[in-house]
Amino acid sequence: MVFGEDLVVMRSVEISPQIYWVGHVDWTVRNFHGYHTDRGSTYNAYLIVDEKVALIDTVKGGYSEDLLDKISERVDPGKIDYVISNHTEPDHSSEIARVMERAPQAEVIATEKGRMGLEKYYRGNWNYRVVKTGDQLSLGNNTLQFISTPMLHWPDSMFTYVPGRKILFSMDAFGQHLASSSRYDEEVDFDVLMMEAKTYYANIIMHLGNTVARTLKQASGLDIAMICPSHGQIWRKHIADIVAAYQGWAQCQAKPKVVVIYDTMWRSTELMAETIAEEAAIEGVEVQLLRLGPNDLTLLVTEVLDAAAIAVGSPTLNNHMLPSVAGFLTYLKGLRPKNKVGMTFGSFGWSGEAVEQMAEMLQGTRVELVADNISCQFRPDEAELERCRNIGRELGQIAAQADSP
Ligand code: FEO
Repeated sequence: MVFGEDLVVMRSVEISPQIYWVGHVDWTVRNFHGYHTDRGSTYNAYLIVDEKVALIDTVKGGYSEDLLDKISERVDPGKIDYVISNHTEPDHSSEIARVMERAPQAEVIATEKGRMGLEKYYRGNWNYRVVKTGDQLSLGNNTLQFISTPMLHWPDSMFTYVPGRKILFSMDAFGQHLASSSRYDEEVDFDVLMMEAKTYYANIIMHLGNTVARTLKQASGLDIAMICPSHGQIWRKHIADIVAAYQGWAQCQAKPKVVVIYDTMWRSTELMAETIAEEAAIEGVEVQLLRLGPNDLTLLVTEVLDAAAIAVGSPTLNNHMLPSVAGFLTYLKGLRPKNKVGMTFGSFGWSGEAVEQMAEMLQGTRVELVADNISCQFRPDEAELERCRNIGRELGQIAAQADSP
């Protein structure tokens, strides 16, 4: 097993009879449209070599040579009969045109939204077969079943299920941004695996909780021995763990945890943040004190996912909250966390608009405000620090009621 920057060239891997992983391990990616991928990622594509040959998804742009090399280890790419596009986002579809150049006779299988997306992105003059939930495709020994999963992650998304092998190709769902020389869940550190799955969920999927819950219910009738996502490790030993985790994350299930997120200019707002955090910790709950800047947005929203309470602080600069805090709240609003309470705090020199602006944005994220905002001019005095202590205790007591472990 290898994590990190040692560049290891991977070969294709047989994951089941006639079925192969042919994806690309991206050891060096550290920024995935803003998501900090400290452990790299993979773009998983899968090949089924039966009487008919099917490729499930391709890879991110620039890696077609690696993809075609891996396919060639198992079959001539020109013999591909079907290219199945589970998801149109370019990290999985960018190299479809290179594949279709090698196999122009292949049919492209996608949902109707998938077909529209692929046509708009790539303008290929390809033969499409549009599928929906319940449609099947026989390859010989293996039959593929398609399950439309709109908005998980895009409107085009679908799962492909191979009942004979009990394999679910789940596209982004259950993914992790994790580069490794091994392919299976039990071959990497379990805590690292689950942390990367949680980070992925928080940053990519958190706002789709209702869709996730509905899809889990829809998929509960499937007999599954292996979940093959489009990023990271294949699940086969820890399927129950990741499905249980998704059930909890879909509800943003809160544990006894308070997260204090802030930025500061002259340490006054930081002093308030520290005071709130210290008092919350006295209630015996987990507390995370996280300053914007040293901590990136990817980490912050991951910490928010299972927090019961959040406090957000910023001084007022030029009549507004700091841009760093505005950026965080904008990101959080898009991710729509559930089951959180919160409050805002901050220092000011002469106007003090930031706390109200932050409160308004927090409400827009569906966080329930449970306390008055706290402002202080220049430097918190003893009375203002006492208010911070009180609110810290209140947040700690609320968080202590959370029942998720
Ligand atoms: Fe990994 Fe939604 O693409």
